[in-house]
Formats: sequence, structure tokens, C-alpha cells
Amino acid sequence: MFETLPAPKLDGIIALMQAFADDPRAEKVDLGVGVYRDEYGRTPVMRAVKAAEARILEAQDSKSYLSLAGDRAFLEAMETLLLGGSVPGARVAAVGTPGGTAAVRQICELIKRARPEATIWVSAQTWPNHLPLIAAAGMQSRPYRYLDRESGALDREGFFADLEQMAAGDVVLLHGCCHNPTGVDLSLQDWAETAALIERRGMVPFVDMAYQGFGVSLDADAGGLRHLAARLPEVLVAASCSKNFGLYRERVGLAMAVVEPGLRDTLAGTLAGLNRQSFAFPPDHGGRVVSTILGDTALRHGWQGELDAMRIRVAENRRALAEAIRAETGSDRFGFIAAQNGMFSLLPLAPAEVETLRDKHAIYMLGDGRVNMAGLNAETIDVTARAIAEVLQAR
Ligand SMILES: Cc1ncc(COP(=O)(O)O)c(C=O)c1O
Repeated sequence: MFETLPAPKLDGIIALMQAFADDPRAEKVDLGVGVYRDEYGRTPVMRAVKAAEARILEAQDSKSYLSLAGDRAFLEAMETLLLGGSVPGARVAAVGTPGGTAAVRQICELIKRARPEATIWVSAQTWPNHLPLIAAAGMQSRPYRYLDRESGALDREGFFADLEQMAAGDVVLLHGCCHNPTGVDLSLQDWAETAALIERRGMVPFVDMAYQGFGVSLDADAGGLRHLAARLPEVLVAASCSKNFGLYRERVGLAMAVVEPGLRDTLAGTLAGLNRQSFAFPPDHGGRVVSTILGDTALRHGWQGELDAMRIRVAENRRALAEAIRAETGSDRFGFIAAQNGMFSLLPLAPAEVETLRDKHAIYMLGDGRVNMAGLNAETIDVTARAIAEVLQAR
């Protein structure tokens, strides 16, 4: 049966992780994998998560099935965190999913059921997994312009011109904040213009929120989503708690549809049905950790402090790397790094230059120049800046 099965292509990130692990050089620097790292390169369990887990361990008296949508307390807490009261609860249908990845997939499946002929538009550079997830649901995707490689900022003209080309009923996938891989976010003004354009042309926005709290603040990072939800009749959302709660391997996320109140129950039932036919019940533990933290004043306060510290560390690394490259090169070409949000930036380096950084300097980043700013620390910032300057000089 399997003789004709093509050998799977090795995922670029997984291959890079393997190459890094196999590299014997002590000075190696990992800027590849997309998880938060502290200054020692660790991804620790957050203290608020440990405390919530202790409470759950003590109090939980059953592991029986919950509903197909998952734990109600988790969904309500996340609705508030994401939407901040911008729309009445009667407009919101949501189900738990195994991480943000499955949330993206379930929303694509939902679109397929409602409008299989729709195109899902994605930013030209996007999280690499968006494309296979859309294709796996049997939907077609097309790119819209987003990053201006010269300035490292939004290509506003290209972005809005491409939005104008989309057909009514098409879906626009937008990153809620901390765009992966570019680090370029829409300003509130951009979000307002986007909402007005989407309203005028009749598309449906689909917001992927994987880094709430890593950009500016929990509320500011959700500002664009809240604006869309308050203004437009339909908004789709895929959210992940992997990064902001550090719950990566617990697989916790949710798929949400904000619709007119009369459609809410249909959407809730359809999303639950989609869960049923793929994994049935979403994992519970991570969601319960999240609702325990968000539902307790002290735990929530502690969690926000830990999240703030992660965000500040990444922002500080951005500022320091931009400054160090400026000092090494005498140019502000990489100054955009300091102005962007979240863990990722796309460095304007050719694939051969990325290879030189890896082979000669033991600095690992993705082939397209994506770096994870959390992978840097006080020691490696200068080393990295010097290596980048050397590579640029050889141009
Ligand atoms: C833009 C984006 N969406 C969704 C996800 C999914 O995250 P997870 O499935 O680990 O919750 C990620 C993770 O890297 C991401 O960067």
C-alpha cells in the first residue's frame, strides 16, 4: 500500500534544529526556533503556570470528557482577553483546539463549509505553516503585499492596493500582532483603514493571534482585532496560548467566530462538529491552567508581570542588536529591528549570507533570514552584530 508514498520533505525548521544540535562549536547561537528563550537560552515554565497546575492537581476530581467545545471557563476567559468587551457575548462562538495550529485549521475548515470558492489571502511573508494548513482544508490561498524590504516597515501602498483587488466574500488572514516572520505590525490607524476597506469591499477578516502580550501590551496587541470585531459583521479568529502562557507542548488554543447574534448558535454548533470529526475533545489541561490564572487576581497579576518581563527582554534585545549593527557598520540599514514587535525579524540577507553566518560564525537563523530575537543575550549580541557586519562587507 505504501510503495508509492512519496518520501516526506524534511521541515526547514526541524532540519535547522537538528543541525544546531549536531554543531559541536561551543559559541553557537540559535536564532532559529520560534520559542521564547531567557538570557540562559531556557524556555522555563512560568511561575503562574506552576502555581495554577498545583491548584488543579489538588482540586481536580475527574478526567471525564467535557463538551466538544472544551472548558467553558477557558473559552469565556479567552473571549475577554481577546475581545476585551468590544462585542456582546451573544455574537461570539468559540471552541477550544489543540494549539493555535489546529485553530487555524478549524477556521479554514469552517470557511470551506460556508464558502469553498473563497480565496484566503495571506501576507506575502507569513508563518510558513499557514499555506499547508489552508491547502489541507482544500482551500486556495493567494499572497498580498506586506513587507517593504527596503525600510523594514509596512508596504502601505502595496498592502492597501492588494486589499482593493480582493473579491467580496474572500477571506483576509491578518496577524493580530507580532507578525511572524517580519515583526511588522499594523498601526491602529492602519487597522481602522483596513476595517473600512474590508467593510466597503465585503471581505471577511481572519485574525491569527499567536503572540498577544509580546508586542506592546495585552490590550494594545488586541486593539486591531477589537476594532474589526466592533465594526464588522463577521470576524474569524485563531488564537494560541503557546507563547504568552509558555504552554507550547500542552497544545492550547481556540477557534472563534464573531457573527450576528442570530448566527451564533449555528457557528458554535458547526465549530463543535468540526472538532468532533478531527480530534473530538480539545485537550483540557492547558486551557484549565489558563482559566485558573485569568480567574484569580494574584495569579493573573504574577502572570502579567512574567509576560511583561519576556516582552521587555525581547524589545531590549532588538534595541541592542540594532545599535550594535549600527556601531559595526556605520549604517542604519538594520535600524528597523528596534522599531518592530515580537520575537521575529526578517533580516535582508541573501541565502548564501545566511549560510556563511551558520558555517563560519555558528549563527543559526532560518534560510529566509528570519531571526528570533529572544535567542540573543548580552554576550551574543555583539558577536552576532560583528558577524553580520563582516558578511555585509563581503558584498
Ligand atoms: C503566526 C502563528 N500562528 C499560529 C501559531 C501556532 O502556534 P501553536 O500551534 O504552537 O499554538 C504560531 C506558532 O508559531 C504562529 O507563529
